[in-house]
Amino acid sequence: MYRRDFIENISKATLAGALPTNELVFEGRETFPFKGQNTLWSEIGEYFPMDGYTNLRSLWTGISPNFVIEKYKSNIEKLFSNKPTDLRYKGQTDFDTQLKATREIVASYFGAESDEIAFVRNTTEGLMNVIFGLDFKRGDEIIISNQEYSLVKGSLEQLKAQKGIVVKQVKLPLEPTSAHDLVEPFKNALTEKTKAIFCCHVYLSGLVFPVKELKKSVGEDIFVIVDGALAIGTLDLNFTELGCDFYAGSFHKAMGLPRGMGFLFMKKIHIESTWPLFGHYNIFRRKPGYLLDTIKKFEHYGQFPDYHFVLIADLIEFHEKIGKAEIENRLKFLKNYWTNKVKDHDSVKFITPLSDAFSSSLVTFQIKGKTPKEVETKLEEERILVASTMIDALEAVEPSRYMANVVFLNVNIFNSTQQLDYLAERLLTLT
Ligand SMILES: Cc1ncc(COP(=O)(O)O)c(C=O)c1O
Repeated sequence: MYRRDFIENISKATLAGALPTNELVFEGRETFPFKGQNTLWSEIGEYFPMDGYTNLRSLWTGISPNFVIEKYKSNIEKLFSNKPTDLRYKGQTDFDTQLKATREIVASYFGAESDEIAFVRNTTEGLMNVIFGLDFKRGDEIIISNQEYSLVKGSLEQLKAQKGIVVKQVKLPLEPTSAHDLVEPFKNALTEKTKAIFCCHVYLSGLVFPVKELKKSVGEDIFVIVDGALAIGTLDLNFTELGCDFYAGSFHKAMGLPRGMGFLFMKKIHIESTWPLFGHYNIFRRKPGYLLDTIKKFEHYGQFPDYHFVLIADLIEFHEKIGKAEIENRLKFLKNYWTNKVKDHDSVKFITPLSDAFSSSLVTFQIKGKTPKEVETKLEEERILVASTMIDALEAVEPSRYMANVVFLNVNIFNSTQQLDYLAERLLTLT
């Protein structure tokens, strides 16, 4: 039923001129026929508002396909018609069924069950539910790496002050040769008091971390909590296969939805014992603790913008048509395509390990004699969008400093090899 709505929507958007002339590409085809062929892959770019720009910073904040923007506008129009039939006066019930379908679509796409997925505003909120929701006691140890996201580090510092937990920070190698190299620092830090490990699936440095191997090696007694902000939409994800206990992600990065849409995956066995960030004890029910054992308790942060979250279904169906594995392969292909063109140049220093085992869409690097901000500005003059950022604790890159400044560049499904030829050419003029 919902899938039919989606196709109808695409057709309507097509009629409205929001899609390119190959509008029937998605209709009646079970698999997306773009696998590995550049000419067909490049058609995907036509679904996005590119405006003549080469957008290589969609993991910073992404861009949505045109038909999703049209759908968003129509949802908002439905809400603000200001007529007596306006959905606001009906308590927005028309979106309830869609939201239920959306939860199922997200769960099935990521290899989870629908009662293991909570919709939260972003990765940060998902992780905060876990940090402040697990029953940590004084003296419990939590292990993180030097590359962990700053808000996670900061929140754990707060938890240290609040509860007296111990945070141990391990250092990740910059040039791993195997998953073992990345898992070992965590494993070596384990003690009898260790309760949890935090890791990113994709670090801000571009490093792709072997979550599955980590979970396998530390076993069931230690929570593995994953920050997936930079992984969603770039890797072929399956939470059951990864085996991790908690995984939080944002749909407004690689997947390009408007900001404020994220999720928290939680293995079913942890739901009852994890406290939600926003208290949820239903005092109006006789049965104490009503709802405390369902995933929805993590969504009770006031009235819920369901008209917003239902867009996720449209986007996932678009990605599903292309194929998760095809997307990961394509992004790796594009990453190798542009890095191979510049990597032998002495002035270009890559921070990200470039092998496909340890990187995907995102690559961070420096250009000798130019600050990352200068690189960003120069490229923007050429209508190439990249970002610059600070990365924690990369002493090996800049021994005198705790933080390293780097260029942050990621490919996405809408980028073409022609755009990357142009990028490589422009980058080399800066060396
Ligand atoms: C590694 C990492 N984790 C978490 C986040 C937070 O994402 P959000 O702002 O969507 O919560 C970011 C944001 O850039 C990030 O780079």
